[in-house]
Amino acid sequence: NAASNLKAHSLPFTPALTSRAQVQRALLALTIPLEALQAVKDRMLQAMRKGLSRQTHAQANVRMLPAYICSTPDGTEKGDILVVELCQSHVRTLRVTLLGDGNQSPQPGCWVMGSSWPPPTMPLQLFDFIAQCLRQFLAGISSPQHRLPLGFVNGTGFSCSDVEGKDVVQLLQSAIKKQELHHVDVVALMNDTVGTMMTCSMRGEPCEVALIVGTGTNSCFMAEAQLVEMAEEISGQMCVITEWGCFGDDGTLSDILTPYDQHVDQESFNPGEKRFEKLVGSLYLGEIVRHVLTALVAEKVLFTGRSVAILRTKDVLKTQQVLEIINNEEGMAKARRVLEALGLQPSEQDCCRVQQICRAVVSRAAALCAAGLAAILSHMCQSQELERLVVNVGVDGELYRGYTRFGEILQSVTGLLAPECMATLLPSVDGTGQGAAVVTAVALRLAAQRHEVDQLLAPLQLSRADLERVQALMRREMELGLGLESHANASVRMLPTYVRGTPDGTERGEFLALDLGGTNFRVLVVRVAQDGIRMASEIYVIPTAVMQGTGEALFNHIIECIMDFQLKQNLLEQVLPLGFTFSFPCQQLGLDKAVLLSWTKGFSASGCVGQDVVQLLREAAQRKQHLGLKVVAVVNDTVGTMMSCGYDDPKCEIGLIVGTGTNACYMEEMRNVGTVEGEQGRMCINMEWGAFGDNGCLDDFFTDFDRLVDEKTINAGKQRFEKLISGMYLGEIVRHILLALVEKQLLFRGKPCPKLQTRDIFQTKFLSTIEIDGLALQQVRAILQDLELQASFEDSLLVQKVCQTVSLRAAQLCAAGLAAVVEKMRENRGLAQLAVTVGVDGTLYKMHPRFSQHLQQMLRDLAPNCTVTFLQSEDGSGKGAALVAAVACRGAEP
Ligand code: BG6
Ligand code: GLC
Repeated sequence: NAASNLKAHSLPFTPALTSRAQVQRALLALTIPLEALQAVKDRMLQAMRKGLSRQTHAQANVRMLPAYICSTPDGTEKGDILVVELCQSHVRTLRVTLLGDGNQSPQPGCWVMGSSWPPPTMPLQLFDFIAQCLRQFLAGISSPQHRLPLGFVNGTGFSCSDVEGKDVVQLLQSAIKKQELHHVDVVALMNDTVGTMMTCSMRGEPCEVALIVGTGTNSCFMAEAQLVEMAEEISGQMCVITEWGCFGDDGTLSDILTPYDQHVDQESFNPGEKRFEKLVGSLYLGEIVRHVLTALVAEKVLFTGRSVAILRTKDVLKTQQVLEIINNEEGMAKARRVLEALGLQPSEQDCCRVQQICRAVVSRAAALCAAGLAAILSHMCQSQELERLVVNVGVDGELYRGYTRFGEILQSVTGLLAPECMATLLPSVDGTGQGAAVVTAVALRLAAQRHEVDQLLAPLQLSRADLERVQALMRREMELGLGLESHANASVRMLPTYVRGTPDGTERGEFLALDLGGTNFRVLVVRVAQDGIRMASEIYVIPTAVMQGTGEALFNHIIECIMDFQLKQNLLEQVLPLGFTFSFPCQQLGLDKAVLLSWTKGFSASGCVGQDVVQLLREAAQRKQHLGLKVVAVVNDTVGTMMSCGYDDPKCEIGLIVGTGTNACYMEEMRNVGTVEGEQGRMCINMEWGAFGDNGCLDDFFTDFDRLVDEKTINAGKQRFEKLISGMYLGEIVRHILLALVEKQLLFRGKPCPKLQTRDIFQTKFLSTIEIDGLALQQVRAILQDLELQASFEDSLLVQKVCQTVSLRAAQLCAAGLAAVVEKMRENRGLAQLAVTVGVDGTLYKMHPRFSQHLQQMLRDLAPNCTVTFLQSEDGSGKGAALVAAVACRGAEP
């Protein structure tokens, strides 16, 4: 074997020992220790980050170019696609037929036909030349006359100056037109790394990284889009082409460069550039070997006494020959044949040494490539916040294909440098052509899908004119609701509350309060003193069975909770006046008399509608022998919220709830309230706007999804406006849209998902989380996973889009309603400009990342003459109910 041969020859002679040492020294220089490789990886990571950041992108060597490709193929792509591949030494044209049977079978449903032409001599005519090639090619295969989409792969790094800075798609398209190929459309333009990634994705699991180790070297991977700052996409993934060939152009690789590398660089046509590529790409490996040999010849260690003039010629040694030399199968014979073919007359020892050198150069290339790959993998792992990344890496290029050891070194060194990542290398079989066809098909499919999705969501997208109409309708319904005659036919009931003013700060006392009808049922004790308000409260659960059982059971339960609270707070001995927030539509006959008009929001306890809820509470107290209950005021939660916020801001004359349900109240002029005697001053009106549209006036705006949601509720046909806006329903709207998308094969690859049939699985809190800005798609995927929905990144993006559409519509409709209110108040008061504060509460308003912003923006737009401040209620409406009770008690005092 080689090593013992060397020993046998060299041992007896001291000079030979020296020569061996010289060879060893050269080999050592070409060997990069693991720590140094680790450092290369770290620097590559740094360089990649520099390329990704908007601030440093311009100076970065590793440019990290966004490829505007946001998904890998899913196997359903189909159709006839033309591909033109521009390589270093040839132009390749292909027609690829994708069969798109939906299966990610290991055998791609695809066949390829192709031919190659030598490249043009004049870069100026490049595109004309390509178009001519295409015409010849199409003539040869009796091309179909239907439209043919074309994908263009550029594997040259493009340096023809005439082309730089111009839209390549345009140039190619017009060249194609000149050839009268009117049925060919240039659809996609891509780098060869992207083509490789896509080709490898066709065979089973998606492939999210690709390397090319051929003439040149480059890589690409699927990055979290929000990290690709140059692309300005905030969600999803985006393929990034690293252009890592230029890594080291700023000198970062100087510690590993050998004098041989420096010679290669100086003799190249672009000295100082593409330093990483010149260590890895096959265009240069032969040259590196040549320079090592030349140096050793000069040291008289190789080919002693023989003619070596040939080694002075640039590029005599091709990478192909280097690979043949290190081919182990035929031992030294192959090496000898290659060297002899070059006109060298090698001894056995020469052959052996040349082989060692070739191996060292190629192994170094593989190890450096591994350092680069490890940097990509670690970056992906970190940015997806994973403990362990499992990923497929597509690899192409003659070095990888031509030398098995290359892949082995690449695999093992990557494992050492990025132990947290598990990469499977997938050799690309058909080159980039098939992948390019897929990218083209994906581009077509996405465009078609986008169109279908847009059509499906269009009815949910309201124009400004739509919103103005909603505002006008709301205004009309408000007038109807206030009028004595028209009141009965109005969908917006405009209920008088007998609350005639907002707090003035003089309220005092200690009160009990109840807060029923939102997410939580609370009992509170509220102390209103000169130095402010102090409160203690307790949350109690109302089981659905009680919500939907008998009225007796419901009010018994409420009394039990009050007693428990009084016990805990040591209040059983006292008779405190009680303010009751009861968040359902009530006809108030006085501050402490409220007849329930209808249940909403999932309540349906029997025997309550038409009854005075204060009376129902008193009866229950009697049943439970609780004697110390003194209800002095019932308020709606909107009123409680307005009063609560009004204590801190005297301008607060509107209350808004966007939670489980939605509603608003505001201070109306008594003269406009036809349903109550008296003309002086103002009264707070509980609009009950949730029922807006129950008379059909909003029918034009309801979509099929809204109708489906409504039909399945316990109050079908009722609270139609609320069902477009509030937390209890938005998740259901989203769920119905998702079902429609699945049915149209636009989501979850059209696979039926039984879980999505379950009512209410998609809670509104998911909407709030899914829409958080900059949330990694991985997290959206995780949320969906928890719901047993297996979503791809594309699916996750689509779900996000649906959520955004639904919540945006809700916020805008709410704005239209509020615009009607503030405009009416402004007109009531005869003001050119109104400044008013809205006290707001409700989980959706508080938790949703965008709702309040959209609402306020739209309101500014629809009511430009009103300056509206939003004050979020922090203490709940119980505090407001206590304040109303305080006013009531004061009124009752002599
Ligand atoms: C609470 C108020 O904070 O918000 C309740 O105290 C109100 O009175 C509720 O009903 C509305 O929001 P949600 O999301 O709980 O329905
Ligand atoms: C429902 C109720 C209403 C309440 C609103 C917000 O619309 O009918 O009274 O204000 O929900 O909780």
